[in-house]
Amino acid sequence: MIISVINNKGGVGKTTLSCNLAVALSRLKKRILVIDLDPQCNSTSILLHKDTVVPNTLYELLDATENGKFQAQDCIYLSKYKGLYCLPNTEETSGLEMDIVSQYPGSLGLLRQRIRDYAKAEFDFTFIDNPPNMGIFVANSLFASDFIIVPNDAGSAYSLDGLRATFDLIKSIQESGNPDLRFLKLLMNRVDLRTAISRIIIDDIKKRFSPQQIFKTVIPSNTAIQQAEYAKETIFTLNPASLAAKAYRNLAKEFLTVFKNLAKDELSKSLSKDKVGKNNGTRFKKKSKRVIRKNSGLGSSHPG
Ligand SMILES: Nc1ncnc2c1ncn2[C@@H]1O[C@H](COP(=O)(O)OP(=O)(O)O)[C@@H](O)[C@H]1O
Ligand SMILES: [Mg+2]
Repeated sequence: MIISVINNKGGVGKTTLSCNLAVALSRLKKRILVIDLDPQCNSTSILLHKDTVVPNTLYELLDATENGKFQAQDCIYLSKYKGLYCLPNTEETSGLEMDIVSQYPGSLGLLRQRIRDYAKAEFDFTFIDNPPNMGIFVANSLFASDFIIVPNDAGSAYSLDGLRATFDLIKSIQESGNPDLRFLKLLMNRVDLRTAISRIIIDDIKKRFSPQQIFKTVIPSNTAIQQAEYAKETIFTLNPASLAAKAYRNLAKEFLTVFKNLAKDELSKSLSKDKVGKNNGTRFKKKSKRVIRKNSGLGSSHPG
């Protein structure tokens, strides 16, 4: 499964979510890839050891002048965490944006073409950490993905403004090229129910989204997250006993349950489709026989 973590607003917790959920899942023995699609490279610096030699990055993978010379596997590195891999980014990638845009509309499928088959074959889950905009990289991410998670900052009223634009973009990508793309859930981040603003934002979100569209697990506002970010670590390294680490462990479990239930739903849907298909087939055959008779004049009253 490939999952885009998006919200066109910055600072809502996309990178924190991509890295910490990835580590929590890798600790549950899942094979995970994080693709750092943001040229600010925050996920890259959190996940890779600072001494990791990185000859190839997202830049090499997407650079048209390299003409497909680099494959996904040439640009993926083991992170500091067992079972967790990272496709790193570099600041220079922002310079590729105009090149990629100039190849529009083919450029929308560039990332999909370069990573999708490999990521789906090699990893249980791939997370794409996105930049805070609606540009060509985010469009590429949505074209390459099966699912979307949208983190929302429960500490800032501005975060609600970003949601509408984000969902408009998702809809346009679903209509224009990736009909299989599905919104998975919204994650409430930086929740502090002691503050009025958190309570107001959560009430507002609950009016706009059904309970199935929101993760039950919320991430509390917790300074351990900022301290971990400062140290370029995840909370599992810096403060595994923190409330935030506990929340991310719970989120990983809920995430796996959501996918188990989705798989069950898909199975029962395809079984009932089979049944309907069979019934339809029989009805169609009988009807078509009648039509042929009528049209060919071979009815029972035909004189022979
Ligand atoms: N639950 C939280 N509690 C406290 N600080 C948080 C929390 N989530 C994120 N942060 C901090 O907020 C800032 C923005 O988070 P980040 O994940 O980088 O957002 P984005 O990737 O959407 O720009 C970072 O400094 C991060 O440490
Ligand atoms: Mg980020």
